[in-house]
Amino acid sequence: MAFELPDLPYAHDALAGKGMSAETLEYHHDIHHKAYVDNGNKAIKGTEWEGKSLEEIIKGTYDKNAVAQSGIFNNISQLWNHNQFWEMMTPKDSKMPGELEKAITEAFGSVDKFKDEFKSAGGGQFGSGWAWLVKDSDGSLKVTNTENGVNPVCFGQTALLGCDVWEHSYYIDFRNKRPAYLENFLDNLVNWENVASRM
Ligand code: FE2
Repeated sequence: MAFELPDLPYAHDALAGKGMSAETLEYHHDIHHKAYVDNGNKAIKGTEWEGKSLEEIIKGTYDKNAVAQSGIFNNISQLWNHNQFWEMMTPKDSKMPGELEKAITEAFGSVDKFKDEFKSAGGGQFGSGWAWLVKDSDGSLKVTNTENGVNPVCFGQTALLGCDVWEHSYYIDFRNKRPAYLENFLDNLVNWENVASRM
């Protein structure tokens, strides 16, 4: 069965008061995310990957030695990344659950230090990519960044939080100010209950 574009878990204008406009979500979800779904389905059709899960395809097609990843990997990983991204934000007020706050404080020293590290990772990603909070295979929490569609699944890590730092995610609302977009994401948009549920 072909992959489908999931609906946003909220209305297109639901995040507008929190720094992510309806126009951004119309382009980002309805056009960019949909293109990854359509192109991913086309790319795997008739290959050994047809019928496999997104995670199986991501793990099976990621090439750690390649300068550029394949079309199958790029589209399927971006499909997965965006599926997670919408769930990681909420129009509601979200407070970090105590268990997550404790784990973040133990790993980074404080929530503010974690946020600084996350903002540096996103701001320091040259070109398109993602900033992540991951749980590594040894159980430790880490902040990482990845280029293009590469994601924690490639490295056997669990994605707790991801922020899309492709220009299509922030250019309408923040123009070229990626650091301001990242700060707003952490302070206003993150669904911390969702992050905690991934632990
Ligand atoms: Fe995106």
